[in-house]
Amino acid sequence: MSRGLFITFEGSDGAGKSTQIQLAKEYLESIGIEPIMTREPGGTSISEKLRDILLDKENSEMSPIAEMMIYASARAQLVAEVIRPAIERGETVVCDRYIDSSIAYQGYGRGLGDIVEEVNRVAIDGVMPDITFFLDLDPAVGRSRIRSDEMDRLEQEKLDFHYRVYNGYKKVAEADPKRVAVIDASRTIEEISLEIRTILKEVCDRKGL
Ligand code: TMP
Repeated sequence: MSRGLFITFEGSDGAGKSTQIQLAKEYLESIGIEPIMTREPGGTSISEKLRDILLDKENSEMSPIAEMMIYASARAQLVAEVIRPAIERGETVVCDRYIDSSIAYQGYGRGLGDIVEEVNRVAIDGVMPDITFFLDLDPAVGRSRIRSDEMDRLEQEKLDFHYRVYNGYKKVAEADPKRVAVIDASRTIEEISLEIRTILKEVCDRKGL
């Protein structure tokens, strides 16, 4: 059996990922694929505990290196426990955020640079997505959609942090245009979803799914 499809969604906070992930799931189901849905940080019992630590506003003293390593630990567990076994069984996995989030948020946002990719190469152990949708939206627009009393530890960072993250995503997309599809997320939900469905269809056809 051939390896299953691994799909990830990326973007700034408030870019509309959750809505598009749900619509992508419905599209895959409509063509006979029941995807395994997961998210980062999280998706396993251990990784969800690490998520709570990462997003807790009380943890304001967390060092950037510790933060990077906890995200990478949560990822290593998710890859080992869920993603790799599923794609080896030939199943399709859809993940809300993955390694590109660490490169954008910790590498560019926190300014940790290339070490983030090195640490995360160990965490993902060769498991890279077949296709990544980067929902491209001005971070100021994204943040205006989130209520300030509902912001988590990362979301409540200043706008210049979010612009560094956004520029980081653009660099990632430029460096790997075959894998990363840049989706203009300033359009309507239907327009965005249609473009994602068209790309998903191409990827599924290529894989013979
Ligand atoms: P979520 O709001 O999409 O669930 O993601 C949680 C937050 O964690 C979001 O602000 C982005 C951030 N994040 C990182 O900083 N690095 C990472 O590697 C991941 C996966 C998320």
